[in-house]
Amino acid sequence: MSRLFTPVHVGRYTLPNRLVMAPMTRSRADDAGVPGDLVAAYYAQRAGAGLILSEGVYPSAMGKGYVRTPGVETEAQVTAWKQVTDAVHARGGLIFMQLMHCGRISHPSMLPGGAEPVAPSAIRPKGQSFTSSGLQDFVTPRALTIAEIAGVVQDYRLATRRALAAGFDGVELHGATGYLPAQFLSSGSNQRQDAYGGSVENRARFVLEVLSAMVAEAGGDRVGIKVSPEMSYNDIFDADPQETYTHLVEKLRGLGLAYLHVALFGARVDYHALLRPRFDGPYLLGGGLDQAAAEAHLEGGRADAAVFGSAFLANPDLPDRFRRGAPLNTADRATFYTPGARGYTDYPTLREARQGDAP
Ligand SMILES: Cc1cc2nc3c(=O)[nH]c(=O)nc-3n(C[C@H](O)[C@H](O)[C@H](O)COP(=O)(O)O)c2cc1C
Repeated sequence: MSRLFTPVHVGRYTLPNRLVMAPMTRSRADDAGVPGDLVAAYYAQRAGAGLILSEGVYPSAMGKGYVRTPGVETEAQVTAWKQVTDAVHARGGLIFMQLMHCGRISHPSMLPGGAEPVAPSAIRPKGQSFTSSGLQDFVTPRALTIAEIAGVVQDYRLATRRALAAGFDGVELHGATGYLPAQFLSSGSNQRQDAYGGSVENRARFVLEVLSAMVAEAGGDRVGIKVSPEMSYNDIFDADPQETYTHLVEKLRGLGLAYLHVALFGARVDYHALLRPRFDGPYLLGGGLDQAAAEAHLEGGRADAAVFGSAFLANPDLPDRFRRGAPLNTADRATFYTPGARGYTDYPTLREARQGDAP
């Protein structure tokens, strides 16, 4: 029998299968960061995953980096998320919320009072931000003071509390893809000369403090972290990613985390071989997988579960399709971030496709 369809312990949960839905920003919330009914329907459709990781959610308004992304700061946001978790649980699913603070990958037009984005250092990233008035160049961010860093850590802690109040089964720290935690970790974006910059110990300090705050709220067995060593997206650069991530992962030991999630995108080094033996809990592996590759990783003992992004986006019944060896729908990039049901909740299941009655 395929290992994908065997149960696995992740934190305090037993997942019925090893297929995890990747966190994916879909920009279907309203301008107040509140997810609506469509969002609940989208996640409920995908409840057959062993575990759903939600799209990146900003812990505080200063963490927002994209239009129509959701938050977990206001009462209205928490109430709306409760409907999402209820819908997933009603279908027997499990869902963690991914906490995503974008840091310098943002724009004053989407921050409170037109504020400058914040970052470890005042270094402007190359590239452009998707704002409500189209693409605009990133701006030079403001470097956080030490006191403000403590405030951001506290924001993650309170966001964790609210995510649990909204019914999430756990929380994932988005430490990948060049957002605030990765900005601290990486030497190119962190040129601080205090306790949060310079040595690898100092650059990892912010991530470890945030995780400790999340663990203090939720317990380690409901907290995970995602990292993506060597990913250059969002103008992120680290001089020695092997050293950085080896150090970080060794420091995660003892926190009792639910999992470590590593997504690789064309890295030159086999980080799975490097990092997995250094971690003391379940290992989730993702980035460009198909069913055969996922099976091979699981069979080879390289991971405990496999994370699928675009395939889950386009196939609400992905586990069922894999089980039957059925063909997959193709993801439509044009509707990844557009409002409305098209390209969101209207991908047909196998049964709908066969009956020709796709909604
Ligand atoms: C539309 C879209 C949105 C994404 N948004 C996020 C996000 O909010 N947080 C995150 O950690 N990764 C995000 N990702 C990356 C995915 O989690 C995943 O790592 C990536 O898609 C690789 O997996 P795949 O090859 O199976 O799609 C996004 C990917 C896609 C396609």
